[in-house]
Amino acid sequence: SADFSTETERTLAIIKPDGVTGNHTNSVKETILNHGFRIKEESFIQLDEDRVKCFYAEHSSRSFFRSLVEYMTSGPVLIMVLEKGNAVADWRALIGPTDPLKAKVTHPHSVRAICGLNLQKNCVHGSDSPQSASREISFFFKTTSSGHASKHDEL
Ligand code: PPS
Repeated sequence: SADFSTETERTLAIIKPDGVTGNHTNSVKETILNHGFRIKEESFIQLDEDRVKCFYAEHSSRSFFRSLVEYMTSGPVLIMVLEKGNAVADWRALIGPTDPLKAKVTHPHSVRAICGLNLQKNCVHGSDSPQSASREISFFFKTTSSGHASKHDEL
C-alpha cells in the first residue's frame, strides 16, 4: 500500500509518577488498547537521576530541567512501547497538549485533560517524532523502533 500514514509504527509511552500514584495506570492502558494500539513492551521501573538526565538531555538548558529530573525520579513509572499505524502522531493526539490545565479547555477528552494535574505532573509522555521514538525505545529496551534486535543486544 502507498498509504504511508498508516504504516505500522512504534512509539514510546510513559505513565509518569503522578499517573502511577494517582491510580491512572489501568484506565490509561485501557484507553491505549481501545484506540487500537498494541502494547509490545512494558516495564514498571524506578528511574534514577542519571537515566532521567540522559533521557531528557535535549531539555537540559531549560529552566524546569532540575524540577523535571526530581519529579521523574520521585516514584516508579510505567514505560511502554506502543504499536499501530501512525502510532507516534496518534499517541500524541490522544494524550493532548503538554499543560493539562490548557488541555481541559481545548482537548477535554485527552489523557492529560482527564488525568494530568499541571504542567509538570502531566501523567504521560509520548515521543514527539518517529526519530525520537526510535531513540527513546532503544534507550529503554535496547531494540530499534522496527522491533529488531540492535547491535546493543549483542554486547
Ligand atoms: S517545549 O517547550 O515544546 O519543548 O516543551 P514540551 O515539549 O511541551 O515539554 C518538554 C518536556 O518537559 C516537560 N515540561 C515541564 N516539566 C516541568 N515543569 C515545567 N514547567 C515543564 N514544562 C514542560 C513536559 O512535560 C515535557 O515532558 P514529556 O515527558 O516530554 O512530556
